[in-house]
Amino acid sequence: MGQAEQVIENVIGRFSLPFAVATNFTINGRDYLVPMVIEEPSVVAACSYAAKLFREGGGFQTSSDPPVMIGQIQLLDLAEPRAAEDKLRAQQADILAAANARAGSILARGGGAIGLEYRHFRGSPVGDMLVLHLLFDCRDAMGANAINSALEHIAPLVERITGGRVNLRILSNLSDRRMATARGVIPAKSLATKSASGAQVLSAIIEAGAFAECDAYRAATHNKGIMNGIDAVVLATGNDWRAVEAGAHAYAARDGRYTSLTRWWRDDSGDLHGEIALPLALGIVGGATRAHPAAKIALRLLGVESARGLAEVAAAVGLAQNFAALRALATDGIQSGHMRMHARQLALAAGATGEEVMQVARQLIDEGNIRLERAKELTAGGKRNP
Ligand code: MEV
Repeated sequence: MGQAEQVIENVIGRFSLPFAVATNFTINGRDYLVPMVIEEPSVVAACSYAAKLFREGGGFQTSSDPPVMIGQIQLLDLAEPRAAEDKLRAQQADILAAANARAGSILARGGGAIGLEYRHFRGSPVGDMLVLHLLFDCRDAMGANAINSALEHIAPLVERITGGRVNLRILSNLSDRRMATARGVIPAKSLATKSASGAQVLSAIIEAGAFAECDAYRAATHNKGIMNGIDAVVLATGNDWRAVEAGAHAYAARDGRYTSLTRWWRDDSGDLHGEIALPLALGIVGGATRAHPAAKIALRLLGVESARGLAEVAAAVGLAQNFAALRALATDGIQSGHMRMHARQLALAAGATGEEVMQVARQLIDEGNIRLERAKELTAGGKRNP
């Protein structure tokens, strides 16, 4: 079982997933091979195809915030929460210095605690609450350990300054100080299909995007498709995909209404513009990024030099994935492609191996009978021509 037993508890084995590479990504003028770990068929192919069309429009342009995480300290039992805030403000420099005493190598790399923010919750179910935010630049780490250590270290000082009682000390996964954005253009002519013009497909994609902007039921599925791409990169590089998921969906609901993480519109030249923005707390050091052998390979393959670089690639992948899903949904639908992949999975499940997998899958499709029972008949008895 190798290192698995050192990683979590009660280990009984290892569970592996397909590790693939998405192609055609040009981001800020540089070409990338993007590692993706995912069990869902079509995602890598769709993403690579989408990246090819974006490349025809000049590739992706990306940007990102400095890697600042938010850590929260919950303060209770305060006689006067506003006065407590004033006291904390007066001693802000001491609090930041105390936080930096635990910042270790992050401080040496130019990161560490950079600021405090104050949030008041009056009349909560447990009375008035002051929540202190510690802003912490995590450099190339995701930073969960660094910021949680800093929070635990400064909590007694915060209690001494305010006379209150600290309850929780933990990072926020709504890492909206650590946003990544990606945008790109696809020429309308690249969108034409056998049965529809580029302009028609473009309109249908914009309509599909508007649907997700308006409706939370659609936005959930739309964003799920985006996360198909992003999670696969996050997983491949040994990052915490649950943290990224939590942040993405909380951000999608930031105005009190859950909405799309992307925007699609037609530009003055009649081409399709897409844009994505979401919090992406990713690291290229720490956690599993350098401990998991496959994650190490993924990071080397990708060749990003910073956590921000990784977040920007992930954002571009999310935009590409969203485009691919909208294009498929707004034209032929996704089932024909999915059923082809499904046929392959059924052939594998029926015990087919090697070339037999494709032969059985093709026959299931030709017969229009994509079922496990049929795959078993074709595989076990060699009855390909019943
Ligand atoms: C399936 O995993 C993802 C899609 O449902 C995304 C979408 O509907 O936009 C195809």
